[in-house]
Amino acid sequence: MKRDLPIVFRKAALGDALQLAVLHEACFGGCGYVVIPPMDQLADHFEEAVRLSNDTGSYPFIVATKGEKIVGFVVAEYNRQKPYQAYIGTIDVDPGCRREHIGRDLLLKIEENIDRANRGRVPVKITAHVHARNTASQKLFESMGYRTTTRESGFYSRTQDAWVFLKEHVPSPRPSL
Ligand SMILES: CC(C)(COP(=O)(O)OP(=O)(O)OC[C@H]1O[C@@H](n2cnc3c(N)ncnc32)[C@H](O)[C@@H]1OP(=O)(O)O)[C@@H](O)C(=O)NCCC(=O)NCCS
Repeated sequence: MKRDLPIVFRKAALGDALQLAVLHEACFGGCGYVVIPPMDQLADHFEEAVRLSNDTGSYPFIVATKGEKIVGFVVAEYNRQKPYQAYIGTIDVDPGCRREHIGRDLLLKIEENIDRANRGRVPVKITAHVHARNTASQKLFESMGYRTTTRESGFYSRTQDAWVFLKEHVPSPRPSL
């Protein structure tokens, strides 16, 4: 699909918080299984998440931009006590920019980042929860080599289940972010 402006990937910055909150609301506001707090609280949450990412290095947080606009982001957790495990917290792409491979490229970037945190050591188990009816996300993870493992009943709420996706990720030789 044609892109009018190039997509640029970079680490999240504190000043991104409000844009991240607006994008997260656009992605999950109507889904019925994620509780979205008021915008100011959500922006504070993202500011804290970016701060944690910058301070600890254990929470890689990458945004995709098109011009000045943030059109996607992904955040993960890397456990230094369990160096062969990582967890993708969420991945969001602007509804107006989907199927342009931004989600795929965000996953590639976060995997590279995990590699760097893991100093290139052998396969990292990367997991993510995906809502049982979230076909787009399931297809994205499958297309990137993740497979479904267990179904977690009531992961989101009493009646809202998630699949756990897993990839035995082999580090790439040259991380870029
Ligand atoms: C899931 C999401 C991040 C995908 O982002 P995206 O940028 O549109 O995905 P990509 O363009 O990188 O898709 C890569 C591949 O994933 C699969 N895919 C992605 N969206 C799909 C869809 N709606 N239907 C079928 N396959 C899909 C395809 O195989 C696609 O490759 P192709 O276009 O060459 O066929 C996006 O739909 C989104 O933000 N959804 C709302 C938030 C969300 O649910 N996040 C996941 C939380 S776990």
